[in-house]
Amino acid sequence: MKPIIVTGLKPSGKLHLGNYLGAVKQIIDIQNSEKYECFCFVADYHSLTEKYSPKEKKQEILEVVIDLLSLGVDPQRSVFFIQSHVPEHANLAWIFNNIVSVGKLQGMIEYKEKIQEGQPANAGLFNYPVLMAADILIYKADFVPVGEDQSQHIEITREIARTFNKTFGKTFNEPKIVLSKGLRIKALDNPNKKMSKSLPKGCLFLSDSPEVIRQKIKTAVTDSGKEIVYDPKNKPAISNLLTIYSEVTNKPIQRIAATYKNKGYLKFKSDLAENIIIFLNPFQEKRKKFAASPEKIKKDLAIGSKKAGIIAQNTLKEVKKTIGLI
Ligand code: TYM
Repeated sequence: MKPIIVTGLKPSGKLHLGNYLGAVKQIIDIQNSEKYECFCFVADYHSLTEKYSPKEKKQEILEVVIDLLSLGVDPQRSVFFIQSHVPEHANLAWIFNNIVSVGKLQGMIEYKEKIQEGQPANAGLFNYPVLMAADILIYKADFVPVGEDQSQHIEITREIARTFNKTFGKTFNEPKIVLSKGLRIKALDNPNKKMSKSLPKGCLFLSDSPEVIRQKIKTAVTDSGKEIVYDPKNKPAISNLLTIYSEVTNKPIQRIAATYKNKGYLKFKSDLAENIIIFLNPFQEKRKKFAASPEKIKKDLAIGSKKAGIIAQNTLKEVKKTIGLI
């Protein structure tokens, strides 16, 4: 049997370059290697923790589905579905809630950050990592490809698996995180924060038009001094731009830094914007095609949730029996 890979993406807006470079790129590589059984889903339940409009939410879910298909998630090779279409995720999360301490959840960095950013401190946000653990363990995942910001959530998933096994008998593996070179893409307007939909000015969406990309890169903050060097500690802003340049052109960072040694920020930024535009063009063309076939997408998603549902139901049945439910 092939090792199992599980990952999810929240539909709280269109996907951005951080999502792609931190997570989706490696999901596609893993899927295409055909060495793994891949489960990729749109985490719609997780996106309900933020304030939202129901009408826009529907659209956002569809946008992320289209983004993922256009980036290369292939429903023939991956089990591709929407989280809430497989209700066993939420059922298992309820069971896990009883083996996680409140203190542990209070210590979650993302929870604390979101509260600081002004998100409502609802119970959904608090229990977010528990649902994430259920998403992963319901398929008995071996590996979870995510960005570095999610590593604490994978750690708590491992702890939940361990506690469950200790309490009720061996049921789950402890899944391992798969990081894409530890990449964490920073916001263009604040290199101390990760690129995120909640900071739209500093966020490069994959579907941004060339004009918007040029504008965002032009106004991206740079560090003091004029040198273009990779030094994440002392020059976090320019290092972030160099990372993006390297990722979209597939050239080593040091070579790029050497090319722009005495050329200044203006030339560097304008070339970076053009390279991003070239890089995103094939994705944006595919996006138009997928957006024009919603019926086909619906069918693919129904097949995905059916396949996922069979496995999820089996795991839940096993868990219920193990913990003494009838
Ligand atoms: P989300 O939608 O916030 O992020 C989706 C993926 O993108 C990565 N990511 C980044 N990587 C690098 N730099 C950034 N600036 C950046 N921003 C986001 C995230 O690490 C993530 O891999 N909680 C998850 C969704 C989820 C999930 C799961 C993931 C729900 N259940 C089960 C794996 C397994 C999240 O952060 O989504």
